[in-house]
Amino acid sequence: MERADANGIRSQNNRIESPLSPMVSSIFSPEQMLAAVSLNQKDTESSSGQLHESLDAKICSLECVCYGLGTFSSCVSARYQLAIMLLLLDAAKIPLKHCLVFDPAFSSGEKDVLRELGLTVLTENEEGKRLATKPTLFYLMHCGKALYNNLLWKNWSPNCLPLVVIIGNSFNGMRERMIEREFKRDYSYINQAVTICEERQLTCPSHLTDVFCDTALITFNSSKVNTLNQSTWTEPPEPQYQHCSDLEIILRESQNGEST
Ligand SMILES: C[S@@+](CC[C@H](N)C(=O)[O-])C[C@H]1O[C@@H](n2cnc3c(N)ncnc32)[C@H](O)[C@@H]1O
Repeated sequence: MERADANGIRSQNNRIESPLSPMVSSIFSPEQMLAAVSLNQKDTESSSGQLHESLDAKICSLECVCYGLGTFSSCVSARYQLAIMLLLLDAAKIPLKHCLVFDPAFSSGEKDVLRELGLTVLTENEEGKRLATKPTLFYLMHCGKALYNNLLWKNWSPNCLPLVVIIGNSFNGMRERMIEREFKRDYSYINQAVTICEERQLTCPSHLTDVFCDTALITFNSSKVNTLNQSTWTEPPEPQYQHCSDLEIILRESQNGEST
């Protein structure tokens, strides 16, 4: 039997049901969850009961980081993206407080709403440079390429990349839309990631195409990551973007109030 609570309608298995739920299940099917949290061969060969216990344990330890959600009090797209994120957290059993959100454009009222929802609002502009120390779902909807590139740079090692799961714009799409030479020069980590990541396009209802177009679930499988030349992992240089005229990222402010 279904029951309603403050979060909407909950089904028998205690998941929130909403018109957006089919979209969430298309992202978080059990198979995709397995891939997303990088279960190894030994896990997948264990009996089904053990598999579910192991899967549950790994899913429960997931964390979520959301950058660039946008001003959801005035922007309908951002509101839909927030709604989907809350459903994803529910589907992936990520506690709300383990979801860290940041957008320099948030108003103080929006930050209050996010805290009221139970999410953790970051106070520092990390410019996307967050190290994944455990399996982490990064939710970056229609964010600037520099934010993705910075995130990849910070996690640029064979150990960290498989911990990174991204729901965001397709890296292949980014590459197709840019001049190859400039893409390699300015977004070298995305350029290399294209060759080693797995992208699954998100299927969304037609009336939400504008909100979720070009969105993919991006994961990194250890064996594919290890096909890159070893030299790529040695002291990867921090991105600088000195040639980018249209940098779509807000940089952190230095002590004298200027963007660094
Ligand atoms: C193109 S908008 C996308 C907004 C919304 N997700 C949408 O699809 O309409 C990019 C967002 O990235 C945010 N952003 C820029 N720099 C950022 C940073 N350093 N950290 C987090 N978010 C950032 C901007 O404030 C903006 O809200």
